[in-house]
Amino acid sequence: MKALILAGGKGTRLKPLTNTIAKQLLPVANKPILFYVLDQIKEAGITDIGIIISPETGSYIKEAVGDGSKWNAQITYILQPEPLGLAHAVKTAQDFLGDSPFLMFLGDNLIQGGIVQFVEQFNRSSPDALILLKVVKETHLFGIAELDEKGKVYRIEEKPKHPKSNLAVIGVYIFSPAVHEAIAYIKPSWRGELEITDSIQRLIDTKKNVQSYILDGWWLDTGKKDDLLEANRVVLDDLLKCDIKGEIDTASQIVGRVEIRPGTKIGNSTIRGPVSIAENCQIRSSFIGPFTSIGAGTVIQNSSIEHSVILQDCHIINIERLADSIIGKGTEVIKEEQTFKALRLFLGDDAKVEL
Ligand code: G1P
Repeated sequence: MKALILAGGKGTRLKPLTNTIAKQLLPVANKPILFYVLDQIKEAGITDIGIIISPETGSYIKEAVGDGSKWNAQITYILQPEPLGLAHAVKTAQDFLGDSPFLMFLGDNLIQGGIVQFVEQFNRSSPDALILLKVVKETHLFGIAELDEKGKVYRIEEKPKHPKSNLAVIGVYIFSPAVHEAIAYIKPSWRGELEITDSIQRLIDTKKNVQSYILDGWWLDTGKKDDLLEANRVVLDDLLKCDIKGEIDTASQIVGRVEIRPGTKIGNSTIRGPVSIAENCQIRSSFIGPFTSIGAGTVIQNSSIEHSVILQDCHIINIERLADSIIGKGTEVIKEEQTFKALRLFLGDDAKVEL
């Protein structure tokens, strides 16, 4: 079995963060989302991996993943010139996929517990497609599937106005090569995209066997701001291990599950986990509260931060309480010691400041 990771798109909903990084590379608990995906694919024993990239952010993905040797995998990069839908991405990858069955994984999705069981189910019963489903409340945002009593999918609809079930199609699928014929048949949807859900419906209409697997654990689609914070919270809560490699002075206190990577110095501060602090940070006279990740090389002084994601090389100084925030790399958030009435801002395009 091959794997196809979709890491294209423009990341519009996550601007300005995605001006200089692909959305799939944004860190969750100080690890790029795409690396969790690669880890799970490796765990399932798949080594022949195609990655769909876009002209806008493809170079970032190539730089981060390289030749895939970190995952003992062979990586083929496939350029999708325009984001014309998930089924269009598969069409673009047809030469790479050949007549192999393949796992398709959206590169900004995270699922709890990996995909081994899912791959095993496919290998056991060789359906034409196996789709992963999850009970959701916001049915209008997803592809929604209807199942018969044996778990066979008999209808699937993209973002329905009147949903007939609460089972969302999540971003992990396994297909037999029969999907290529279905994709060749379908037409673009109202949003101008070749929808993978329409291709799956075509498989059903042509009497192919479409099975489902209902996921119990969490599923995170990190495509927008609150989802990234939520992903950071869930992953820190669920996966973070206590691992302290930096230097901590005697005036500091570390409470709960905290990861501190080498080269980081903590002085006169309290860190209350779950918290991940990457390499070479300096934390002085500060409080870092639960569900916070701090990127490499960041300096935090005389500040209090919780439930936030701070990327690398930031300076956060004299900020009384920073919460629920995402701060892009190299950003300075500094309050002068004396309080002036005027705010002095130097913000990039699409920045958002809530005072
Ligand atoms: C896509 C699929 C949809 C699926 C969702 C999962 O939606 O079209 O069927 O439920 O991914 O994240 P999109 O992100 O393109 O709106």
